[in-house]
Amino acid sequence: MGAASHSLPRSPSWLGRRSRAACHVKAPLSHPRRSHTAAQGAAVAPRWRPSSALDEWVLREARPISLRQLTFFGRTLTESRLLDSANYCRLELPTRIAHRLRDIQTLPYVVVANPHLAHVYELYLRAFERFRRVSNIRTQEDNDRYCNVLEETLKEHATVIPRLALGVLEVRGMMNTEELDRFMTTMLRSRISRRVIAEQHLALTETFHSPWHFPDAQSPHESLSAESVGEIFLRCNAKEIVEHCGDMTRELMVRSYGSHIQLPDINVVGHVGATFPYIVSHLEYIVGELLRNSMQAVIEQRRFRGGKPPPIEVTICENPQHVIIRISDRGGGIATEVLPHLWGFSKGPRRDQRLENLARVPKLLGTMQELRVPGEGDRSNRKTSKYSDSSQHSGSLSSLTSRPPDLRLGIGLPMSRLYAEYWAGSLDIHSLEGYGADAFLQISKLGNKNERQVRHMTFG
Ligand code: COI
Repeated sequence: MGAASHSLPRSPSWLGRRSRAACHVKAPLSHPRRSHTAAQGAAVAPRWRPSSALDEWVLREARPISLRQLTFFGRTLTESRLLDSANYCRLELPTRIAHRLRDIQTLPYVVVANPHLAHVYELYLRAFERFRRVSNIRTQEDNDRYCNVLEETLKEHATVIPRLALGVLEVRGMMNTEELDRFMTTMLRSRISRRVIAEQHLALTETFHSPWHFPDAQSPHESLSAESVGEIFLRCNAKEIVEHCGDMTRELMVRSYGSHIQLPDINVVGHVGATFPYIVSHLEYIVGELLRNSMQAVIEQRRFRGGKPPPIEVTICENPQHVIIRISDRGGGIATEVLPHLWGFSKGPRRDQRLENLARVPKLLGTMQELRVPGEGDRSNRKTSKYSDSSQHSGSLSSLTSRPPDLRLGIGLPMSRLYAEYWAGSLDIHSLEGYGADAFLQISKLGNKNERQVRHMTFG
């Protein structure tokens, strides 16, 4: 956490200026607020003017992007385009962080006083202050300096998800469950968006500096860009992703249950040649989570019965607009009392176990890389080179296997749905209690829909 004077529970930074009540109820941004200066008088409500840097940035609208825009923009990379990308990031990140800071300010004080949520607030405030001060990026040297700031901040924010997960469980009961889930959804969706923007720019910068980069094509650059544009792989192959995630999941199960354990096979059938543009780490996060749930369910079911467990069947279906991946297991399905809470962050019958699990998090905060959420691979592990040498499977899954195998943050499914919806896809689970479960992941093949927008919130 930052300096003690910034510590939220003791002296929330905004309380100096705004009353507690003002914190609680957010004034609509378009609504003129009454100024308190005598000169302006009480009779006429003066035009509201932003009174702090945060107010100013909160007034800016986020500029949404689509996968297709990202792909076309980065396809022919010139210095001028790279600098445009840097300046898009430069304005977009503080805008999006400002919106979330303002959202947190509207939470009831007992909620933001929670040490984990306060820590996240402080991290965002620091990032906002750092980002908003970056001036126009005009040269490659400016960009290199900016990229260092981005890298540093991405690393610093590695703890945000476990902190939020822990915070939200601890403040349960202080706030309505639906509102808490809405808060978590908004925070996480916005975080995905910021990381996409930052990581895409870092990847474009890496490409630009690569010895294979020749902007006028007919050169090795073409072979590079034929496969990826920054973080986006143009031809993600669903079958290969499933198989790769399957290998990682098996490794994880052996570490959890021991090498004697009988593991179910994973059979992949259907349109196995289907490809689509996507950010591989997002897909690996979702598929890794679904396979892990399925495999664990099957193992737990069959554990004491001996014999080979029934396979997990994966069907890939391609149509003009979508690729659908169905993962079917015979792990007994999901208990009726668990179903209503499957997609929530703050409630559910397994909450106590999650809290117990999460109680280990603070001890691990020093080695937080262990807790990195799969899908947020350490960029130093990443390769964005050719699909054919199977480096489409970036380092992002390493965290799935490096994290203590029994440590689950309990947010894998709702987080997977957020990733799926982010690029206009969907994730659903149908359970046949007593038999098994089918997960349906739908991916939009065209990539032409804007990222899912994040709305401002008012809580309390
Ligand atoms: C986050 O990871 O929470 C971020 O806000 C990322 C951004 C600083 C680039």
